[in-house]
Amino acid sequence: MFLIGGSADNGIGEKVARALDAKFAKAETKTFPDGELLARANCGAEGDDIVIVQSTYAPQDTHLMELFLLASAAAKQNPRSITAVVPYLAYLRQDKAFSPGEAVSAEVILDLMHSSGVTNLVVAQPHKIETLNKFKGKSIPVLPSRSLMDYVSKELESPYILAPDKGSFPFAKDAAAQLDCGCTFIDKERSIATGEVSIKNAPAERFDGKQVVILDDMISTGGTTAQAAKFAYSRGASEVVAAAVHLLMSDNAAEKLRDAGVLRIYGTNSMPSKNTSQIDISLELASAVRSIL
Ligand code: R5P
Repeated sequence: MFLIGGSADNGIGEKVARALDAKFAKAETKTFPDGELLARANCGAEGDDIVIVQSTYAPQDTHLMELFLLASAAAKQNPRSITAVVPYLAYLRQDKAFSPGEAVSAEVILDLMHSSGVTNLVVAQPHKIETLNKFKGKSIPVLPSRSLMDYVSKELESPYILAPDKGSFPFAKDAAAQLDCGCTFIDKERSIATGEVSIKNAPAERFDGKQVVILDDMISTGGTTAQAAKFAYSRGASEVVAAAVHLLMSDNAAEKLRDAGVLRIYGTNSMPSKNTSQIDISLELASAVRSIL
């Protein structure tokens, strides 16, 4: 097995290689004066199982392009398989056309990955697990929300899980079963015009004396989590923390969460992040590679 770490592997590539006892090479990239990208890597030998680790956080397009280029370079070696391990796969939220004429970017990304030569795909906490079924090769979702909650629960005595939208309720329920605590969700809506989040239907529960954990797959602008935090305090929460697998933390998300009273933010190393507690998902990704080959 030969493993290539992309420039956005956030250190995960080398750890996965070690766990799999695979040879490891870091890819080299260069940006031409006009902005175009060149990617180059030692791609192992003919017949190898090649694994490429590349996360696709911002700048998403550049990191995705690098992944496509590396897969296509690897394909030229006639490998036995090419497995892309993507700690965060961008563009999965657009899994349908929400308005007429919109492109379904999740399908486009998965198709491009396959046509670049990727035969197997491992993705950490895809926005919706079923979206991976659109990939034409084999795919496996890795769900680090479980180990994330193990970590978070060690710091809490009376947790209560609040899913800030319907989409995160299934894994919030799973986390609540794991922690043996209560769980509910907010039915939210987002204005297409402004991107502002608001509560469509509030749950009936109160959280008096509870340490509310807002659990989502990702925190981007922080609007969803901030609104859920304010709601939790308005219903008696003693403290509120946030946990999400992917901490995109765009715009002024950290400030927004602080202003909403979020005391701590927990996430994973699917991408670099400042001022948060991050758990390492390398071993979970490595075991997914083992099972997909
Ligand atoms: C949406 O469906 C996702 O699960 C997240 O709730 C959302 O992407 C978070 O975005 P933001 O932090 O910008 O509110």
